[in-house]
Amino acid sequence: MKIMKKVYLETFGCQMNVSDSERVATTLAAAGFEMTADEGSADVVLFNTCSVREKAEHKLYTRVGQVRNSIGENGEIRAKPIVGILGCVAQLEGETLFKKADGVDFVLGTQAVGRVARAIEDVENGKKQVADLAAREENYDWMTSPAQRHSPYVAFLPIIEGCNKFCTYCIVPFSRGRERSLPATEIVRQARVLREQGIRELHLIGQNVNSYRPKTLEGLENVPGATAFSKLLRAVAATGIERIKFTTSFPRDFHADIVEALNEHENLCNWVHLPVQSGSNRILKAMRRGHTVESYLEKIDRIKNSPRRIALSTDVIVGYPTETEADFAETMRLFEYCQFDSAYMFKYSPRPGTPAAALTDDVSLAEKTERFLRLEAIQKASVRQSLEAMRGRTVGVLAEKKSARAKSEYSGHTACHKVVNFYSEKAENEVLGTIVPVTITKTKSNTLYGEVC
Ligand code: SAH
Ligand code: SF4
Ligand code: F3S
Repeated sequence: MKIMKKVYLETFGCQMNVSDSERVATTLAAAGFEMTADEGSADVVLFNTCSVREKAEHKLYTRVGQVRNSIGENGEIRAKPIVGILGCVAQLEGETLFKKADGVDFVLGTQAVGRVARAIEDVENGKKQVADLAAREENYDWMTSPAQRHSPYVAFLPIIEGCNKFCTYCIVPFSRGRERSLPATEIVRQARVLREQGIRELHLIGQNVNSYRPKTLEGLENVPGATAFSKLLRAVAATGIERIKFTTSFPRDFHADIVEALNEHENLCNWVHLPVQSGSNRILKAMRRGHTVESYLEKIDRIKNSPRRIALSTDVIVGYPTETEADFAETMRLFEYCQFDSAYMFKYSPRPGTPAAALTDDVSLAEKTERFLRLEAIQKASVRQSLEAMRGRTVGVLAEKKSARAKSEYSGHTACHKVVNFYSEKAENEVLGTIVPVTITKTKSNTLYGEVC
């Protein structure tokens, strides 16, 4: 009997990386490898990497060092597995990774992940330092196999990859290349397959989903909507999949027709993620974000004034070069106004090769931390309020996980993307993967608690 080689795959970074990893695992399983969660027994160790902030990149070097020096359960030195680096750090560093991280056998860029089986084979055949940073193959298969998805009930479906925006601080346009939209017919086809496979919640993903611009409008000809993205939302809604979410939306491309589509289709979820980055017009201009505070707030007002209650989340950077206390005060004011349901907050981190990296990183770490904490306090109050407003309401919760700690406790998300924990006495297989009506009884930091009604 042929012994299957075992592969351990660890993923850093955003949903796009999680999705790429699902396809890497799909490819490898089809090529006869066995995916394992046990790093110690793996013949091949893969890291799908992120470069968006310095911390994310450092983590990779630490992890490669650990694999190289790994010691078996009985104190013996383990034979070193084949080590492959995929994703954004791989794309940016290329062959220099062989020097920077000792023990790396191959490097695959963001569009080369479909060739992972071949890279492993090359190393097995004695090839040294294999690097592939080339473009995606024409016939690349975007479909993931159910066994390799991060959840049996929630699926990520990329609709656009890359980024053309070149915000001054951001490495993504360099690691992911220019925007490329998938054909609408293919997206709708996959949505249908996913639904048949039992997926209840579909996330349309991309660095900027609402910049979706396919080569042709094939498949969307008779669908209403002012932009290709809102047409696509309606076309995916028509597949009847129960929940559809989408991230990330780019403020400049966030048009009124998106809110209209959300109001027309119950299964388009009432949650919008719209990263603002700063509340100061001067800083937004320096970042080349393409929106102002005023144009952003116009969009926020439209969302907030929509007949349907729509949850809002954002990303923000504190301490961008030259940010003054007065600039930061404007960010705090914007947060007070918007009352985001959730926010991802980051301290500015210079990324080599980006335009902002040429500027002096003049806001000290102490100052960044201090601003971060002040903004966090404002945001925590918003979160508390938005969760408190849910108390007493009955909402549908997709039961995604059973708690490891408490018996009969489950957790999942609402349509507005809030986490809810609840108790159910029903058998696990009757609860998991269903959308359960839960009455919210309690709130705690970032989480809601409720009872099945
Ligand atoms: N495409 C999305 C998200 C890209 S990366 C968008 O346009 O918003 C996710 C978040 O990381 C960004 O929204 C930004 O807030 C943060 N980020 C990106 N580069 C950063 C940097 N150099 N330092 C700190 N945070 C950064
Ligand atoms: Fe980065 Fe800006 Fe592109 Fe988002 S829109 S990925 S922040 S360059
Ligand atoms: Fe990180 Fe690349 Fe995503 S840099 S955030 S993994 S696009």
